[in-house]
Amino acid sequence: MRIGILTGGGDAPGLNIAVYTLTKLLERKHEVYAIFHGWRGILDKEVRRVTSKDLIDFAFAGGTFIRTSRTNPFKDEARVEVFARNLKELGLDVIVAIGGDDTLSAAAQTQARGLANVVGVPKTIDNDVYGTDYTIGFDTAVNEAIKVTESFKTTLISHERIGVVEVMGREAGWIALFTGLATMADFVLIPEKPVNWDAVANKTKEVYRDRGWALVIASEGIREYGSPRDEFGHSRLGGVGNELAQYIEKVTGLEARAVVPGHIIRGVAPTAFDRVLAIRFVTEVFNAIECGDFGKMVAYREGDIIRVPITEVLGKNRLVDGYWMKLYETHWGP
Ligand code: F6P
Repeated sequence: MRIGILTGGGDAPGLNIAVYTLTKLLERKHEVYAIFHGWRGILDKEVRRVTSKDLIDFAFAGGTFIRTSRTNPFKDEARVEVFARNLKELGLDVIVAIGGDDTLSAAAQTQARGLANVVGVPKTIDNDVYGTDYTIGFDTAVNEAIKVTESFKTTLISHERIGVVEVMGREAGWIALFTGLATMADFVLIPEKPVNWDAVANKTKEVYRDRGWALVIASEGIREYGSPRDEFGHSRLGGVGNELAQYIEKVTGLEARAVVPGHIIRGVAPTAFDRVLAIRFVTEVFNAIECGDFGKMVAYREGDIIRVPITEVLGKNRLVDGYWMKLYETHWGP
């Protein structure tokens, strides 16, 4: 068979190892094609035959060697025709789409319209793809956010200040929650649990009085006070951490600083967890292709790798709730 692989949406550490490993498994029996720039690669016919040898040098780095884009051809009916025609001409039997909700929704459309068979792989540093406990890139992003926070903490202590770290996480507070837990921050703000900023200011003042510094982790997605969004719903300004630090300074009269690691936590080499997760995911993709089980997304559930219908996971985010919300509330609840 002719099998295409693409990565769509924001990049995430672990994509290269996923593409490399899948190519290595598939090339024994099939022709493997890299679809460059996500779904845009079909519209532009930017599709090239690849071998694992072409990919090995980049396999363990961050980013995505086959590039990415946020193009979703199904958002514009005029493009769907070009997409369908090109796909036919390219003769791809199967497309493996590695991405978040939007990329996977285009995969579901491709399958539903009978344009090609698809298998999906969940990735995003935000860890908010529905139906899977973990997505490729989350663990690495958290580890990097922890590193940044620990460095920031040393200077907060030296100068006796209050610090705010704003981390990515547009809809869900997973990165903020895990970073906050791993650094035992004094307050964590996540979109799933709106809190009054006065409560944050009071808490940090109390902690400051006790030990001379305080640390807050805030998710960029905290709704009420979020920066203006662009057409993709992203808060590009990365401004909410700074706003919060200024607010704390105003209310408490204490010196506060903010850092926004932004894309830095997204661009590094994958951790062991993300490497193994990527390998486990694509091994299951290989199994799905071998037995002709299409229209599925591979997922991590309670330690196992399973396949779920892509249509079941679309249009919703996996948010912090249940056990994780209880954990949040135990540490930072009222
Ligand atoms: O893909 C998820 C994400 O990293 C979000 O956490 C963030 O809001 C967004 O991507 C940033 O997107 P961009 O790379 O387009 O600025």
